[in-house]
Amino acid sequence: MTTTIPATTLAAMAHIPAERLPALLRSMPKAELHIHIEGSLEPELIFALAERNGLQLPYPSVEALRSAYAFTNLQSFLDIYYAGASVLLQEQDFYDMAMAYLERAAADHVVRAEIFFDPQTHTERGVPMGTVIQGLARACKDAQARWGISAALILSFLRHLSEAAALETLEAALPYREHFIGIGLDSSELGNPPEKFQSVFERCRELGFHLVAHAGEEGPPDYVWSALNVLKVERIDHGVQSEKDWGLMQRLAQTRMPLTVCPLSNLKLCVFPDLREHNLPRLLAAGLHVTVNSDDPAYFGGYVNDNYLQLFAATGMGVQEAYQLARNSLEASFATPAQKAAWGQQLDAHFASFAA
Ligand code: ADE
Ligand code: ZN
Repeated sequence: MTTTIPATTLAAMAHIPAERLPALLRSMPKAELHIHIEGSLEPELIFALAERNGLQLPYPSVEALRSAYAFTNLQSFLDIYYAGASVLLQEQDFYDMAMAYLERAAADHVVRAEIFFDPQTHTERGVPMGTVIQGLARACKDAQARWGISAALILSFLRHLSEAAALETLEAALPYREHFIGIGLDSSELGNPPEKFQSVFERCRELGFHLVAHAGEEGPPDYVWSALNVLKVERIDHGVQSEKDWGLMQRLAQTRMPLTVCPLSNLKLCVFPDLREHNLPRLLAAGLHVTVNSDDPAYFGGYVNDNYLQLFAATGMGVQEAYQLARNSLEASFATPAQKAAWGQQLDAHFASFAA
């Protein structure tokens, strides 16, 4: 069952001229639920942090680094993404990175951001867990005060590493548990199925964390099944490969399981050859709880509004889909029911204000 749209909003939508769709997409209140903070590190900031920390980069200039962003699959991206993150050393570096993202997100009318961070990318280089989490958490707090954006952190385990390493990471992070609301699973998907992390996810569930996992980005529908049945996640990150399994589509639709889809990421990592062939419109039409997100905006050529604008331009989706996707994003967030209801009302008022 899809969200029931209030009759007044439905009536207003019929009077929104098609040419106002881009402005509507840009200004509508929305949640971003799939953003890796390390993937928001722009080349200019990588160079600035390298200089501040006295590090030499293997690229002579910002332009040279940016021109290396030509990916053929997930792994080709991850190699350069982990190299970029190596300039993050001090708490202030994590703070500056997160503030830059949150300012950009607030400008895109993101009212809620649920942000992944990969502690193992940093602790493996000797950066203390507290440095990472305290820098990011301070940014979330300051961004709320400065721009009114609600932000929360999701600690992600790197799935190419072992479950024992994930357990160690969890233990190291627990002294800072008030600063993150959930647990995720990311990095190289193929060959690293969700069930590899069954025990650590069980422990995280007992501890009361929200659970999500990347599944069905490049990997098969079976990985989505095991994220649901073994890890017992509350959202699937990506999930676009689910379309290959009719039974899985039924399960996702019937349970209104949110999928955090990232169109420009899928394009840049060659999951789809062209945005016109992206399956998001079909997933939405099949009744799935789809949302639009940026994944790693500094690497994939766009923040969340760029994802909406380019996807809508390529696929011909319209005002109704815009409403449904924004509404889905707010509802799939881990904010309180009262907060979600307030944002839902803002969304309805916003669409009404666009009617001619
Ligand atoms: N880490 C950062 N971006 C990712 C993606 N798209 N898939 C898996 N792991 C990631
Ligand atoms: Zn991701």
